[in-house]
Parts: sequence; structure tokens; C-alpha cells
Amino acid sequence: MRSTRRHLFDCEGFPRGWFVVGFSGDLAPGDVHPVKYFGQHLVLFRTGGGDAKMLDAYCPHLGAHLGHGGVVEGEDIKCPFHAWKFDGAGECTEVPYAEKIPPKAKVPCWPVCEVNGMIHVWHDPDGAAPAWEVPVMTEYGAAGWTEWDHSVLEIATHPHAIVENVSDTGHFIPVHGTHVDSFENVFDGHRAIQINSGVAYPLGGGEDRYSLRATYYGPGFQITEMAGFLNSRIVNAHTPVDEGTVLLRYGVLLERGDDPSLTEAFSAKYIENLREGFLQDVRLWEHKTFLERPGLCDGDGPIMTLRRWYAQFYEPTPPIEETVSA
Ligand code: FES
Ligand SMILES: [Fe+2]
Repeated sequence: MRSTRRHLFDCEGFPRGWFVVGFSGDLAPGDVHPVKYFGQHLVLFRTGGGDAKMLDAYCPHLGAHLGHGGVVEGEDIKCPFHAWKFDGAGECTEVPYAEKIPPKAKVPCWPVCEVNGMIHVWHDPDGAAPAWEVPVMTEYGAAGWTEWDHSVLEIATHPHAIVENVSDTGHFIPVHGTHVDSFENVFDGHRAIQINSGVAYPLGGGEDRYSLRATYYGPGFQITEMAGFLNSRIVNAHTPVDEGTVLLRYGVLLERGDDPSLTEAFSAKYIENLREGFLQDVRLWEHKTFLERPGLCDGDGPIMTLRRWYAQFYEPTPPIEETVSA
């Protein structure tokens, strides 16, 4: 049992939290995808009834990978090797040539929640249940807002390199060419928030006076609420594949506003600008290294506080206290 507090920067393994494994539209009923996250081979599928499910990849019978040739039948996935079936909780529901289902015929199952048009899975190295809920974005699916414009990048980095962006005040001018008027961080339980306003200079010229609130909900999922020339919601979701690789998904929702023709004309360009701003960070994340003792100055943001916030997701899950009735 892990009992000692880990060193702040000894973040080996993968943090606890909800992680996005896809946008909902990428997984139709009956789809079966072999995936790899957290250094593990897994299978992601959508049942006939429409529920997204994720299980460990390997069949407990003789080890076939359920994601390569497995088939959805109703609410179950059928192994391609000997046709044993497993439900979304990983329980074996049928062995077609046996009278009894072996009691150990079970595949480990991952908690899944699907909100805001994204599929999230809960990762906890101790196997504990989810400790918080993914917030519902009221703009998703609402009249007056666009659908997700989204994309995915594979980046060779550790996720904490991405998270440090929250507190990095000094990179706005050199990386984004953005003038920051005000900047504040708030750390609140599993949330780390950046509140910031200033002037951005879009690719097409002119200037955009903006204010934003970017909130991490746990170590791998961030929603940015941005007000400016147009109002937008940006999701930045990064999920570890293995120790050196992260899949980074990002998506944009845009408010159409009162004048749809004006917004239509600008929306594509606006999203392109947001994407470019995001990619400016990505180019840095891809090639930077992690300095355990960075040479910070008094003008830098609270990067070490951010690191302490992040380290909480590597702490052992507190044991659930048993209630003893008198
Ligand atoms: S290996 Fe899956 S049913 Fe045999
Ligand atoms: Fe940035």
C-alpha cells in the first residue's frame, strides 16, 4: 500500500482524473476501437443502445485483443477468438460452447461519462471511484452556438508541461503576441483557474480586446470561456498514451450572436485564429524539457504553486472511512 507522500516532482505514472478519449461523434453505435492510454491496451466501443464503454483490451479466456476483431452485439462485445461475450461492465454474459460461465471470466472496466459531446474515462491508479463530476457546458447543443470544431494532436511530452501554461504569465508576448492587462490564478480543490484579460492581435489584422476564464477540472481537462469580438468556449483535453506521449484534443464552440451572416463570415477565420494560438503553445510543449528547479524570476506567475496543485493527482486515494454503527 502506498503510504508516503511522494516528492512533489516525482510524478511517475499517471495522474488521477477524468480524461477525454474521444468526441462523441467519432464513436457510432457498434464501433469498436483498439486504443492505448495510461500505458495500457484498451478497447473503446459503443453498444447498440448507444452507451460508450471502455474495458481492458485482453480477453480473460486466452488473451485475444477485444479491439481487434471484437464485434458489438446488443449491449455486449463479442471476442473474435472463441466468441465469448462481455457486457459494458466487463462481465461475461455468454460462452457459446459451455454450460457454466467461469466465475473469473471478467474484464476490468473503466468508468465512463459522456457529456458535452465528449467521452471521458476515469483513471485512478488505486482503482478508486470518480472523485468529482465533469461539468456540463450549457453552450454545447444550445441554440445560438456552433457544433464542436475539433482536432487531435499527438505530442511527445509529459502532460504537466501542458498544464503549466495555466500560470505562465511571461509567455504571452513572445509566444502569442498578446498584451495582458490583468492576470490571476485561483487554485480550488481539483480546479486550477486562470483569469486573464488583454488585447490579442489576430492574424488578419486589427485587435481583439478579450477576457477569459480558463479552468482545469483535474489534471487533463480544461474549459476556456472567452469573451471578445466573438464569444467562444475552448476545450483542451490531454490524455497520456504512455510515459512520453500525450493525445491532445481541442475543440471550439462559437456563439453565433445576433447577426448570423456576420458571424458566419468571421467564424471560420476566428476559429483558425484560436487554433493558431493553441498551436503556438503546442510547438513549445513538443520540444521543451522539464526543469525540476526552474530559474524563475519575480515577474513569473505562480508556477510552483501550480505544480503543487498538479501533484495532488498523484497522491494515493484517501481510504474511504468505514461507518461503524453502534
Ligand atoms: S480469447 Fe476471447 S473468447 Fe477465447
Ligand atoms: Fe499559451
